[in-house]
Amino acid sequence: MHRSSLRSWLLLVAILFSGLVVGGMALTTYIVVSDGMSVVAHDSNERLARAAAEAVRETAKDAPSAPEDPSDATGTGRSGLKDVVASLPGLLSAGLLSDGQFALYDSTLQPVWSSSRAALIPAAKGQRVQTAVTEKNTESNLGTQGVLRGLVGPSELGIFVVHSPITLPDGGVGVLDAVYYPTKEEAVIDSIRPPMFTLVISAMFIMVIMMQTSMGWVLKLVDDLRKAADSIDSGRLDVRLPVEGEHEIGELARSINDLIDRLRRRADAQTRFVADASHELATPVAGIRGYTNILRAWGGDDPEVREEAISAIDRESRRMARLCSDLLALVRNERGIEFRSVRFDVNARCREVLAAAATRYISKGLTFTGPEEGQIVMMGDPDRIEDAISILVDNAAKYTPEAGRVALRTRRRRDTVIIEVEDTGVGIPVDDLESIFDRFYRSDASRSKETGGFGLGLPIAKTIVDGAGGSIDVHSELGAGTRFTLRLPRGRV
Ligand SMILES: Nc1ncnc2c1ncn2[C@@H]1O[C@H](COP(=O)(O)OP(=O)(O)OP(=O)(O)O)[C@@H](O)[C@H]1O
Ligand SMILES: [Mg+2]
Repeated sequence: MHRSSLRSWLLLVAILFSGLVVGGMALTTYIVVSDGMSVVAHDSNERLARAAAEAVRETAKDAPSAPEDPSDATGTGRSGLKDVVASLPGLLSAGLLSDGQFALYDSTLQPVWSSSRAALIPAAKGQRVQTAVTEKNTESNLGTQGVLRGLVGPSELGIFVVHSPITLPDGGVGVLDAVYYPTKEEAVIDSIRPPMFTLVISAMFIMVIMMQTSMGWVLKLVDDLRKAADSIDSGRLDVRLPVEGEHEIGELARSINDLIDRLRRRADAQTRFVADASHELATPVAGIRGYTNILRAWGGDDPEVREEAISAIDRESRRMARLCSDLLALVRNERGIEFRSVRFDVNARCREVLAAAATRYISKGLTFTGPEEGQIVMMGDPDRIEDAISILVDNAAKYTPEAGRVALRTRRRRDTVIIEVEDTGVGIPVDDLESIFDRFYRSDASRSKETGGFGLGLPIAKTIVDGAGGSIDVHSELGAGTRFTLRLPRGRV
């Protein structure tokens, strides 16, 4: 993803995230306040209804129930009801009751009195009937609207009505409606909306700015790393990325720097390898060209010169062929190409190696001992492992003066097969021990002796052992002798 698109994507995430968090919190607060106000209005209504009903019941009880007025045709206590109605305005407008609206319905549920038109709620008829029938309080909450609508316009908690049964002087059951308009509570809800919106917008703004600032800082660090990484190409592995702070980006820069170091070491080794290989190849090529010139100039006439030139060309070309096959072996081993895993006897292979080297040993007057009788069976690539052993045996023969001793021992310890090649030769200087497994490395002593090697034997042996999952160690004392130890996993035989 492009960096600027990452930035806009993060901006979108920041807005969504802050909108969800801050908006969610504000909405929850708003819902809680609305619910609270609704409960407060409901409680106020109940209190009003209780006080009003008590007062009206008292008055109705005291009113005469017998017909006093001769004009009262029904003779069912109408004059008593009139007394009650006449007392209501004074009764229901005092003190706490002034917050509510009231309406009294007779036993036929016809309104006989109301404190105002607002007290008459035709829609609550059903509840009123229920109160008259069951003689129990009922409640209505009319005209309420969803909480969320209150977010976009004035809030509407609706009209709260409590219907209380009243025994009228005529003995019938009337209903007193206590009506409460929650204007105060709605005003409270409406008053929190503007500051809430301001808070939401500013909190979102602050969150977005904070997230963008911190992301901008991270992106800048990443960008610095990218620029530094861009400047690295195969020729410029000396670049170091800026390591700032102990945070994750700093850790990433440190890891990349370590990677660059490793790449540089590898590239250096590669360059050295190519230079060394070219140098080693150049020597026999120069020899061959020199002798070819000699042949051209004098070889035709002088059989002695011709013979010498031909054998020198033969020697140098063999050396080149050996170098090429060594280089090839190195590359193939390193890549783990054609490593087999078969069951074989290590002792038998060791004896074969010694047999192949026997003429050299004998001509140099060396005594050599091979592995003990019996078999040590293991899994692996017998040819490669034989190659590694013969490299060690070859070195032992090469670096052990006449009349020296060489021993090739094998043993098994648990799941490991151990092969040792020990000689009483010239030994390796302590300073060289670390480098003898490097390609083309030859200790000065060996170079001066002109033993004719390339310094590729031990590196090849090491790639074989590494490929087989084993290890190779050396123990040497200058002038006393050297012992190489191969440890190879035996595998499931
Ligand atoms: N058994 C040994 N005794 C003394 N020095 C040894 C012995 N084996 C190896 N070395 C030292 O380690 C160096 C590296 O050995 P390696 O087998 O890699 O190369 P080389 O024998 O010189 O050449 P090549 O094996 O390519 O013909 C040798 O030049 C020699 O100095
Ligand atoms: Mg060697």
